[in-house]
Amino acid sequence: MKLWRCQICGDPYLGEEKPVNCPFCGAHERLMVSQADFDNRIGAIPDLTEATRKNLEAALELEIGNTQFYACAARKSGSDETKNLFKILSKVESEHASLLCKALGIKKPAIEEADICGGDFQGNLAESHRREEGAIKHYGKFLSEAVEPRAQEIFSALVAIESDHLSLSGESLA
Ligand SMILES: [Fe+2]
Ligand SMILES: [Fe+2]
Repeated sequence: MKLWRCQICGDPYLGEEKPVNCPFCGAHERLMVSQADFDNRIGAIPDLTEATRKNLEAALELEIGNTQFYACAARKSGSDETKNLFKILSKVESEHASLLCKALGIKKPAIEEADICGGDFQGNLAESHRREEGAIKHYGKFLSEAVEPRAQEIFSALVAIESDHLSLSGESLA
């Protein structure tokens, strides 16, 4: 067994092989490294520009909204499969909220339950796509505006992860 770390969220993973995606934030394999190679860039980004601070705050708001949306969709799911699909998406988005708070150097706010979804799987899937597309567009813009290497690393990882979420569909449950 070997200890792996995620360069985006910092969370540890114990396993023989490196996971294809971080089990917590969904970051891609190239961002998973052995503990020995881990370069601790987690934590408040020093000397944040005003533009990046605002963009990190906007990203945090977006992730909190998506955490709430997926948690709502999980609660209202009729089947165990859809419940678990939305549950893990909510957890991943909450992990994104956590890592953005770390980058901002702030305490993570409590994420309240919110009634912001319907009860229909196809409708919630369509809303998921709308939200993920919005996130990808915003994070692409935030990436182009960031001058801090760590902020660039975070936004670029988030664009890739939210793009993975876009490929989810009814077939993901087959
Ligand atoms: Fe991660
Ligand atoms: Fe996210």
